[in-house]
Amino acid sequence: MKKLTKILAIIAAMALLSLPTGCKKDSDKTTIEQVKENGYITMATNADFEPFEYKDGTEFLGIDIDISKKIAEKLGVELKINDVAFSAVLQELANGTCEFVAAGMSYDETRAKNADFSDPYFSASQVILVNSDSSIASADDLNGKKIGVQEGTTGADYCEKNLEAEVIPFSKHVDAVSDLIAGQIDAVVLDDFPATKFVEKNADKIKKLDTPLTEETYSIVVAKDDKEMLNLVNEVIAELKSSGELQEIIDNYQDALGAE
Ligand code: ARG
Repeated sequence: MKKLTKILAIIAAMALLSLPTGCKKDSDKTTIEQVKENGYITMATNADFEPFEYKDGTEFLGIDIDISKKIAEKLGVELKINDVAFSAVLQELANGTCEFVAAGMSYDETRAKNADFSDPYFSASQVILVNSDSSIASADDLNGKKIGVQEGTTGADYCEKNLEAEVIPFSKHVDAVSDLIAGQIDAVVLDDFPATKFVEKNADKIKKLDTPLTEETYSIVVAKDDKEMLNLVNEVIAELKSSGELQEIIDNYQDALGAE
């Protein structure tokens, strides 16, 4: 009987070891070879970041989606989108459940230790959103206040390191902005272009303060040391820049912004 138990335990252990890991990459193939064989490439993002990535019904839209489509097109494959929490996107890359991240991801030294960042495709900054009647006029006024941020973002990091404030993490910006409008928090710190989109939609209720808090650039992110994939992404970005298409893509989402 003891022997049987032991055999069963060994069988169970073997079964566990042979479980698929969710990683579809054969070690002898490069990412690009594997993608071409699969016929699709997967990007990870957090579609709570209009105009870079957001949903209209079930459709994904935005600047990063358009750039990602160009990457898929360059490889002659279909684009799949993994929409996860922003704080989980880089983990998707490490797990091998996506080939790249396009999420308005700002270059950051700590992030760059574990993943590779493409050439920049957009310049951004963190800004402050407050209610229209708020007395908060600059970053100095934020001390002692309740500030909503999206978890895991450079905005959250900035607030935690530079302000004596109560920093409240949200999984989605849209929830932070609703709490702001409802008077539960005093400000939201987030990226400039998405902040502008929230103001466009709630112009009678909230306003954006003028002074930028940081200077950042967005990159597409690939797995650490995946040089072939990084080169391909950089090639696509370079082509989009030199053809003027990148600017066209951005302008497409700018509409009401120009009329500000
Ligand atoms: N640029 C900021 C960062 O890199 C925020 C990005 C948030 N992106 C998103 N898709 N929700 O941390």
